Amino acid sequence: MYNNNPTLDKVDDKKILHDRQGEVLTLEKLELNPDAKRFYIESYGCQMNFSDSEIVAAILAENNYFPTKNMEESDLILINTCSIREKAEDTVRKRLFIYNKVKKQRPGTLIGVLGCMAERLKQKFLEEEKLVDLVVGPDAYRDLPNLINSAEEGNRSINVLLSREETYADIAPLRLDNNGVTAFISIMRGCDNMCSFCVVPFTRGRERSRNAFSIVSEATDLLNRGYREVTLLGQNVDSYKWENPETKEVVNFANLLEMVARVHPDLRIRFSTSHPKDITDEVLYTIAKYENICNYIHLPVQSGNSRILKLMNRTYDRPWYMERVEAIRRIIPDCAISSDIITGFCSETEEDHQDTLSIVKFADYSMSFMFYYSERPGTLAARKYEDDIPLEVKKRRLTEVIELQNQLSLESNQRDVGQTFKVLIEGSSKKSDADFKGRNSQNKMLIFPKKDGLKAGDYTMVTVNRANSATLFGEITTS
Ligand code: SAH
Ligand code: SF4
Ligand code: F3S
Repeated sequence: MYNNNPTLDKVDDKKILHDRQGEVLTLEKLELNPDAKRFYIESYGCQMNFSDSEIVAAILAENNYFPTKNMEESDLILINTCSIREKAEDTVRKRLFIYNKVKKQRPGTLIGVLGCMAERLKQKFLEEEKLVDLVVGPDAYRDLPNLINSAEEGNRSINVLLSREETYADIAPLRLDNNGVTAFISIMRGCDNMCSFCVVPFTRGRERSRNAFSIVSEATDLLNRGYREVTLLGQNVDSYKWENPETKEVVNFANLLEMVARVHPDLRIRFSTSHPKDITDEVLYTIAKYENICNYIHLPVQSGNSRILKLMNRTYDRPWYMERVEAIRRIIPDCAISSDIITGFCSETEEDHQDTLSIVKFADYSMSFMFYYSERPGTLAARKYEDDIPLEVKKRRLTEVIELQNQLSLESNQRDVGQTFKVLIEGSSKKSDADFKGRNSQNKMLIFPKKDGLKAGDYTMVTVNRANSATLFGEITTS
């Protein structure tokens, strides 16, 4: 147990013990039971998918299936898929081809497709991909044990029902590939926004928020197991809204942030993704009030042009977005902002594209995820607008945005040279075991020489002495 937690008395200790014992029991079961089956899982797409894979792992571990990192020795190969762009789906199809080779060598191995592509293609998946045994949508993971049983009997099984209630609130995720320091917590599922380019509302269903106390309890449990950073996940975290069924009290996102921030001052809070139309001053003031809520906001703009934003159905325009950036700068002066950008959306002109470049400059993003538009079947844009920008134009505009962003990231990082930041150590640097890696509040990665007595999960002060566009390099300063 973590001793200095001022709020532990308010937390349901039994739940923590239950969860912790649950994980220990899982490992014991595995050791005691040499016949236990093994599953191998690969995840693609957004952080929500990686978080879902940990829920899937917990459900499977309860049912005698345990994780392995070795595909060749597994009885069940799962792929948690993404449909956001055509390329994402192509990657999945390539992986299925590889799995099928394994299956030929090891007949009896089951192959299951989970997540957004399963939801989008449904029955078609079983028809097109003859060697897939299971197709399971994002709201149907509790049904996995039944579906696996049925597949083991030789049936091809599918459940792609979407739910209005499922949040998996009671399932303690089995942390896969973890560094023991940072973890994701899903706070909501689905999306009600209907951006015209986006497939997510079709693959993930209606928006619903998870019980706030189960979120606080999961954060507390993670803290007690040594974690020092949680990222609250949702497609649109600012519209989080949960009503306590007993008191009828409503918890909004600002309230939730505060509840999680109070778990312990040493537990850092991040969150993703914020929607420019929904991020409130109340949220910004809450971030400013708590040192452990990181000064970093991912605020995807998509386009800098108001006409394009309207066609995208983003429900804000250029002046609105600029005002939100100004509010962030005013209320949280040292806050880093990052973005998602799409180039070459239907009917985008060169002037519209210039508006995107100028808003990228205005917002001075620390980094961005940038894509060219990929039409997705069934979306509003696919039905209403012509995908009329030639691929080479989409790509050229994308290159221009990427070059500008790289320049801004470099300048932003160079401004940090000479400054000292509080860094949470995440582990050894990938390149050198003599160095630590960790992030500052602004979500920038720092690399610095190790020092005796410090380990992953500790905070330390680091002074930056050089930088490139992706990373800051520095030295630990003792003060
Ligand atoms: N909920 C988040 C985004 C989720 S999808 C939000 O509203 O910001 C992640 C990113 O993928 C989006 O922000 C968008 O930039 C990109 N994206 C989504 N659909 C796309 C498409 N059809 N083509 C290209 N990029 C797309
Ligand atoms: Fe897609 Fe828009 Fe929802 Fe984000 S907010 S998931 S872009 S529909
Ligand atoms: Fe992809 Fe689904 Fe996430 S489409 S981006 S995995 S919600």
